[in-house]
Amino acid sequence: MKKKTETQDTVFQRRLERHHDELRWLYMELYDNSSMFAELCDELYHFYHERNKALKKQDEKREAHPDWYKQNDMLGMMFYIDNFAGNMRGVEENLDYLEKCNVNYLHLMPFLETPKGRSDGGYAVSDFRKVQEKFGTMKDLEHLTAACHKKNMNVCMDFVMNHTSEDHEWAKKARQGDGEYQSRYFFFDSDTIPNMYEKTVPQVFPTTAPGNFTWLPDAGHYVMTSFYPYQWDLNYRNPRVFNEMMYNFLYLANRGIDIIRIDAVPYIWKELHTQCRNLKQVHTIVRMMRIISEIVCPGVLLLGEVVMEPEKVVPYFGTIEKPECHMLYNVTTMATTWHTVATRNVRLLKKQLDIVNALPKDEVFLNYLRCHDDIGWGLDYDALLREGIEERSHKRYLNCYFQGLEGSSNSRGELYNADPVSGDARFCGTTASMCGIEKALAEQDEEVIERAVRLDVTLHAYMFMQSGIPVLYSGDEIGQVNDYTYKEDPDKADDSRYIHRGAFDWKQAEQIDDKTSVASRIFNRLDRLERIRKSEKVFVCKANTWTVDTYDPSVLCMGRYYDGEKVLGIFNFSEYNKTAWINEADGVYTDMITGEMMRAADVNIPAYGFLYLKRNGEGSDEKI
Ligand code: GLC
Repeated sequence: MKKKTETQDTVFQRRLERHHDELRWLYMELYDNSSMFAELCDELYHFYHERNKALKKQDEKREAHPDWYKQNDMLGMMFYIDNFAGNMRGVEENLDYLEKCNVNYLHLMPFLETPKGRSDGGYAVSDFRKVQEKFGTMKDLEHLTAACHKKNMNVCMDFVMNHTSEDHEWAKKARQGDGEYQSRYFFFDSDTIPNMYEKTVPQVFPTTAPGNFTWLPDAGHYVMTSFYPYQWDLNYRNPRVFNEMMYNFLYLANRGIDIIRIDAVPYIWKELHTQCRNLKQVHTIVRMMRIISEIVCPGVLLLGEVVMEPEKVVPYFGTIEKPECHMLYNVTTMATTWHTVATRNVRLLKKQLDIVNALPKDEVFLNYLRCHDDIGWGLDYDALLREGIEERSHKRYLNCYFQGLEGSSNSRGELYNADPVSGDARFCGTTASMCGIEKALAEQDEEVIERAVRLDVTLHAYMFMQSGIPVLYSGDEIGQVNDYTYKEDPDKADDSRYIHRGAFDWKQAEQIDDKTSVASRIFNRLDRLERIRKSEKVFVCKANTWTVDTYDPSVLCMGRYYDGEKVLGIFNFSEYNKTAWINEADGVYTDMITGEMMRAADVNIPAYGFLYLKRNGEGSDEKI
């Protein structure tokens, strides 16, 4: 027994030694506090020690194969526990369904303790070590993660580190006037400094929660609240905040979490006279988190939530020598995809994909069509302006289009945080509704339904072809449409993001064997694509990826190459049959869905359809 402990200690020591100097350097640069640093190191050891055997074994395996998550089998799905299966036990009982969806990475939306009615969908955490009662307990979480690991599934959770709920014990003490706890937030007894901040800090929720500060009449103070008034920004200038939040992070990692999504990460450092976004200290903190996880739990991945333009997102990968996040969301590509749906013009999307394709392949993006949040229309407006398209009117067009107010649109959905001052608005709706399925079903027009289904599947096929890891939004695999019932719930009625946060429709899911249903048509076509992706090595993250000119404004062509294998994906974003005027004169290709052989030249592609073409192997001289 003793020997074993020593060996384990050696593992910890080896990892600590590798990182100690850099960690100390960064910590001292930020905090200049060696006793707090010593405490941090002691706690790292404590959490390493507490980590169970199975997780330590997994860490070692992953340490030996650091590219474990970059293979072609990774497919994510995100869902709310209650929407999907009531509680954690329910999720565990339904892992078979998730396996059937081919997913091996489950993002459980926020499930930690949060006050009812002041929760921002769980992003206002009042206790980082307690699961909301309706979902279960920490024990249930451990049980679930262990069950997932048995099925080779990874579990992702949010780590909301920018703020706590006003019901968090620190916030309560701060509110009662305890200076020690006030220093963990941004407290001001007059509006002088808050007003100075307001001059340079943009607003996150201009309509639903205007301003960046909240006046607390009982405490006689202002507190910084970048998001909702009940989400108090933490002050990371205070090393106590950093240390305690790192302990929370490690505590959660030790429950068996594989992927930690660092919520709203660009916001975590505030500085007067700046926008309080992406400051250099944020990178110091993320780098320290990466080091800390590499010391205690190297099997855990960091996923950064940076909903910003590409130039601001990419730095969160860090560098090869000093990596920060393992994965980041491909947010601009997502928004540009929907712009392409509305305009049927792939030019901007091609440009955006070229930017992503040119990045080092170690930088793994999470690709998605929809998530729990709104679509913010963060497009490359400089590029659009060069084509004569102006930002404000274009956003108006997109919002009209997706609300279904534009003549040719079949989309359904709602605006989000429409700002009367700037004229800006974001958009909410499910993939299926935005593709026209909701409207087509209401009209019971089979031709329109099939066309909408085709667009929906094509968008997924295109997402699977992108460089990185695809993540499905639960319900999208069966074409679930918008849910308007949120309007009847006073806790949700003001937040239109709930339109695409409806309960999973198990009745619809039961139809996946009924070939005439929308659920079946989408589920089975996606299943086919997911299996192709899993079985073809050309879909690994390291594959070379690029775009090909098609000389048709509505048709996008993407190539992938890895280890002698090549595939082309061709996607028609218009409601007309088209020809992709490509000429890849390097052999014969096989349509991966139908098995038909063809040349990759002047390829016909149906309205809203797609093709996956694979180049036949060397030496095969098929006649076509
Ligand atoms: C992230 C979440 C969003 C939440 C916000 C505040 O952006 O995705 O849902 O409102 O953080 O925590």
